[in-house]
Amino acid sequence: MSLSSHQSAAMKSSTWLTPPEWVKVLGPFDTDPCCPPVMPWSTATRMLTEAQDGLTAPWEGRVWLNPPFGQQAALWLRRMAQHGNGIALVPARTETAMFYESVWGKADSICFVKGRPHFHYQDGLRAAFDSGAPIALVAYGRDNTQALRSSRLGVVLTEQVGACRYRCCLLPYETGG
Ligand SMILES: C[S@@+](CC[C@H](N)C(=O)[O-])C[C@H]1O[C@@H](n2cnc3c(N)ncnc32)[C@H](O)[C@@H]1O
Repeated sequence: MSLSSHQSAAMKSSTWLTPPEWVKVLGPFDTDPCCPPVMPWSTATRMLTEAQDGLTAPWEGRVWLNPPFGQQAALWLRRMAQHGNGIALVPARTETAMFYESVWGKADSICFVKGRPHFHYQDGLRAAFDSGAPIALVAYGRDNTQALRSSRLGVVLTEQVGACRYRCCLLPYETGG
């Protein structure tokens, strides 16, 4: 069973935590604007919850963004593109309006992740099923491009300076994922 089928069948939660090893390899981050009230590990120095409304609160420094699912994800990604410093985790749905508005021509680079990750429940337990969809990690800012390249999580496309074209960077990445 995948996360998407599991969700449509039974689950309403939007709290699917990022695999902690991803945050570790891509971090450290200054702000995570969307977190549940209790987290089993840190994703950033400053972790905002719904009570603080991370969508409208100030974002500082390097941001980690794994937005809530659904239509509001586009609002979060728009804010990330405006902020211009950080990495966002989104479904690799490259044809969508959200991708065209906030990723293509806006992001510095995109990592198309190899395989499908298993997200974690709010208590830290790793889900038995995978994400059910391909995942992209989207970098805004040069340092974040470097973090994607070093992570070896997948194939990285990088925007060429001054042109809305992307260069494919086939660095070696971990096998068996
Ligand atoms: C997909 S989870 C990501 C959790 C964590 N940031 C991570 O990367 O593992 C999205 C979280 O955003 C929270 N959330 C929803 N609306 C929010 C808001 N307006 N401000 C802050 N957090 C919010 C949800 O409660 C949910 O826990």
